[in-house]
Amino acid sequence: MEYRNFGKTGFQPSALGFGCMRLPQLMGEENAIDEPEATRMIRHAIDQGVNYVDTAWGYHGGQSEVVLGRILQDGYREKVALATKMPSWLIEKPEDFDHYFSIQMERLQTDRIDFYLLHALNQGYWDKYLNYKIFDWAEQKLADGKIGHLGFSFHDDYEVFERILNDYDHWDFCQIQYNYMDINYQAGERGLKLAAGRGLGVVVMEPLKGGRLAIEVPPTAVKNVFGQADVQRKPAEWALQWLWNQPEVGVVLSGMSTFEQVELNLASASRSGVDHLTPEEVGIIEDARDAWQGLAPVACTHCEYCLPCPSDVLIPQIFAIYNNAVMYELGERGKRMYQNQIPEENWADMCIECGACEDLCPQHLTIIDYLKDAHAYLSKA
Ligand SMILES: NC(=O)c1ccc[n+]([C@@H]2O[C@H](COP(=O)([O-])OP(=O)(O)OC[C@H]3O[C@@H](n4cnc5c(N)ncnc54)[C@H](OP(=O)(O)O)[C@@H]3O)[C@@H](O)[C@H]2O)c1
Repeated sequence: MEYRNFGKTGFQPSALGFGCMRLPQLMGEENAIDEPEATRMIRHAIDQGVNYVDTAWGYHGGQSEVVLGRILQDGYREKVALATKMPSWLIEKPEDFDHYFSIQMERLQTDRIDFYLLHALNQGYWDKYLNYKIFDWAEQKLADGKIGHLGFSFHDDYEVFERILNDYDHWDFCQIQYNYMDINYQAGERGLKLAAGRGLGVVVMEPLKGGRLAIEVPPTAVKNVFGQADVQRKPAEWALQWLWNQPEVGVVLSGMSTFEQVELNLASASRSGVDHLTPEEVGIIEDARDAWQGLAPVACTHCEYCLPCPSDVLIPQIFAIYNNAVMYELGERGKRMYQNQIPEENWADMCIECGACEDLCPQHLTIIDYLKDAHAYLSKA
């Protein structure tokens, strides 16, 4: 196993961390973890040098923390840094901090959380935490030794990420979604460099875009790019090595759901290192990104110059959902996102064809027509 830098914490995490959000399940039931298999997988990873394990209040309907608590018995707890997260969406008053934290310690059968995160920070949760004076509570827990290091995981725009770093000087680490397709999404590459530059350890989540960059046989355009490389790697390994190549990346979490994936990713991690890829290999990844993006129906770069729309159509968000659904062949998921997450008053069919957006679009996209296509695709039953 290779070990990495983790900012000012001084801790050296294994290149590969175990994300406990996608453990093997019985009969496809989210809450029914196949505990013997999960035990075999996690203990094997730890035996092979994985020393960072990540869970959260809500994973597998709360069962991830409970099952992990049992898996880490028999001496395994002492071999790992354990990370879990405050369920930001459940906090309604300052007393809730202690309430959820104490249940998590019980579930995980531990008296200390080594890396504690505020889960899925966005502007709304951040305002709430500041209002409820989270740092009075967290700094007491740090002083009592109940929390080893304090951090946050993040799901909002880069500007919010920067604000969160600026608003509090004592973050030890953060967790961001980052993979070779998401360099300009959420915190993105800018956020990675900003956080690492300020001495935070950086945990990467969704390194394989939830599995979409790991499919054995990717679309032909992407497959052809990887086929040109001197070194042959599986798509998952290309994605992981691209991350480990970067000095700012600390631990890369993978939510492995089979024993075979654990073995493949352990083997990849053992071959990893900063600056291990040649410039040609980095170029292969850049070409693969271009090939994926070439599958997107709308060449929207999410610059938001088109906003505000006079009819409040959420143009960039709709194109992002549409593009992802088509590129990664996730039509049903895209439809659910559009129909459940975008309010109907902001749907594409609210467009009045005034053309204000088209005048402003630096890509000169025919937005009116694309909105019609997106709505036809995403609003189908
Ligand atoms: N804080 C947050 O808001 C947040 C959000 C997301 C994730 N996380 C954490 O970050 C962890 C990592 O994110 P993630 O689970 O999305 O990671 P990921 O590595 O991007 O996706 C995991 C999926 O990739 C596939 N996979 C993994 N290794 C593979 C391999 N070698 N070959 C083929 N397929 C492979 C599997 O998909 P199949 O199951 O389809 O085979 C697996 O379920 C999570 O487990 C969780 O702990 C946190």
